[in-house]
Amino acid sequence: MTATSVSGVFPYTRMRRNRRHGWVRRIVAEHTLTANDLIWPLFVSDRAEDCVEIPTMPGVVRYDIPSAVEAVGRAKALGIPAVCLFPSIDPKLKTPDAREAANPDNLICRAVRAIKAAHPDMGVICDVALDPFNSDGHDGLVRGDYVVNDDSVAMLVKQALVQAKAGCDIIAPSDMMDGRVRAMREALDAEGLIDVGILSYAAKYASAFYGPFRDAVGSGGMLKGDKKTYQMDPANSDEALREVALDIAEGADMVMVKPGMPYLDILSRVKDTFGLPTLSYQVSGEYAMLRVAADAGCFDYRKIVLESLMAFRRAGADAIITYFACEAAAWLNETR
Ligand code: PBG
Repeated sequence: MTATSVSGVFPYTRMRRNRRHGWVRRIVAEHTLTANDLIWPLFVSDRAEDCVEIPTMPGVVRYDIPSAVEAVGRAKALGIPAVCLFPSIDPKLKTPDAREAANPDNLICRAVRAIKAAHPDMGVICDVALDPFNSDGHDGLVRGDYVVNDDSVAMLVKQALVQAKAGCDIIAPSDMMDGRVRAMREALDAEGLIDVGILSYAAKYASAFYGPFRDAVGSGGMLKGDKKTYQMDPANSDEALREVALDIAEGADMVMVKPGMPYLDILSRVKDTFGLPTLSYQVSGEYAMLRVAADAGCFDYRKIVLESLMAFRRAGADAIITYFACEAAAWLNETR
């Protein structure tokens, strides 16, 4: 008796054999997801009234510096290798020249010093962009109604230097100005900060998925117009490869694709084309989408989060910046 053909031309092929048991599924799994793959973004603030849950990001709070230090300790204990810090500064300190960004004693620099003092072996990544400091809510400096490039780069370099001197391990320019990676690398090297890495947000799209983040850092209400003259058009894919190629040539150590889930095609192309450490950011709107829908009973929270993170790994992400990092790491450690 021959076996019945259940799958067309290959009479003996039954794909389900390799899915039959948990142990065989583990053997054939092509990708893994562990706490090592997760980077946790957190919001810091100086003001007690600001250290509350962000309404558009249920479950995400802003931390004052002492509680950020504690929270980073918890992330470290879960096996998360690094955190990304974002400041929610006093609106009174926001100016059109974003000068607070270059203050060596600003909120973010103080947070970096405190976190590195308590947790020297935890990676600390600082965002470089002016939007949390700028009364226009833009990542660069606004002249007339345009975000200018080269003067913005000069200011961003100052911001990167104070953060690096405060002790951050990696600077992560998310501003999308042209030429900023080279300018930052040169400035860091000139100051002897040769070991500070650059994670460039190389392919960053002008996305509505950043909405809740802008609430979190208080830049949303201030934003004049949109970011389409510097962030990428969601219609474009080849352009992302040019952006990444330029940032690599300028000295980026790692690159990022952002947002995450709606741009997994870009992530996959970038990883396949360049093969360098490639991160992806599951941004605030993606967090909100999954969290709010899970809270509404649309699907299982834990399963949806872990599936979404595995999708990033499958698409080629070496690591994922995600607001789910701590919860996901705890679940992954449990099942190991
Ligand atoms: C700042 C910055 C943004 C995000 C990270 N860095 C917002 C923006 O570009 O408007 C978004 C992160 C998120 O939505 O979680 N340039």
